[in-house]
Amino acid sequence: MAEKRKIILDVDTGTDDAIAIMTAYLDPDIDLLAVCSVAGNKPLPYTTENTLRVRDVLRADFPVYRGCATAMVSTLLPNRHGGYSGQRTQVEGMEAPIEIHTDYLELPPSTRPVEKEHAVWYYIDTLLRSDGDITLVPVGPLTNLAMAMRLEPAICAKIREIVLMGGGCYRTNTTAAAEFNIWADPEAAQIVMDSGCPIRIIPLDATHRACINADESREFRALGTSVGKAVADCVDHRILAYSHLQPMERLDSAPIHDALAVCAVVHPEVITKSIFTRVDIDISGGLADGQTIVDPRTYTDRPRNADFALDADRDLFARWMMDCIRRFQG
Ligand code: RIB
Ligand code: CA
Repeated sequence: MAEKRKIILDVDTGTDDAIAIMTAYLDPDIDLLAVCSVAGNKPLPYTTENTLRVRDVLRADFPVYRGCATAMVSTLLPNRHGGYSGQRTQVEGMEAPIEIHTDYLELPPSTRPVEKEHAVWYYIDTLLRSDGDITLVPVGPLTNLAMAMRLEPAICAKIREIVLMGGGCYRTNTTAAAEFNIWADPEAAQIVMDSGCPIRIIPLDATHRACINADESREFRALGTSVGKAVADCVDHRILAYSHLQPMERLDSAPIHDALAVCAVVHPEVITKSIFTRVDIDISGGLADGQTIVDPRTYTDRPRNADFALDADRDLFARWMMDCIRRFQG
């Protein structure tokens, strides 16, 4: 039997991060070593509590490490951006504006605490002690990983691969030029791009081609388990929010960005088109702040540094998600 893939997830839990955690924990080919929280979709206390709630519903025992509460430097400049920019809109008949991520996931309050060690030190301690066989899967702003790289650059040689959800070439969300994870901490993203580690980027260009729909949500709910319900609740919430904020080709569907990055770790064939290219991040603070600049030119003197996904196999992704979630009993 092939060895399980050791991964560390870095999350800003959120509704799609929650599904990424559940699928990473339940996939039989993944050894989920730990989950690190970071500020992003919501401030750190919320993303950390939501991560702990997901661990409880899984009845799992992986450790959770709390990470950074603010971006490295981008919030220092006035008017550059104010951190969380959650897309929201008022929908007739609804009390509160609809958002893609709620403050708290609709799960019982957590029952077990985070670890005492900060996520950044956990990365440094764990990677330096490792055999170089750990894959990092950041699906929120890259602050934790970039801070660890700055504090101890030697970890870069000990990272097997980074498979990150972020960026966009022909697709964006938070601004006309940028995707949220990169936009929320552009300098952190550039530090990761310059790290020399093997990097696979799962951007919006791929995640928007792998939406999960209302029929599939009903299949998750029909499993009759607490995890099946949690997944269906997250998917249904996302479908409602996306139908108002960023309608997909199939109106009763929504991207589950972060789970696609998890799927790509153990099923790289889910990405049906990608380019090995140069990727840099606009950190100039202007209109394109946080943009992933994809440079496929052959005559650039900048070394190619990432595999950038451009399309995905939606049906394979949906089958994989169902196969993972149906493994939960209870
Ligand atoms: O742009 C999508 C990404 O931003 C996802 O990871 C979502 O959870 C948010 O973090
Ligand atoms: Ca996320």
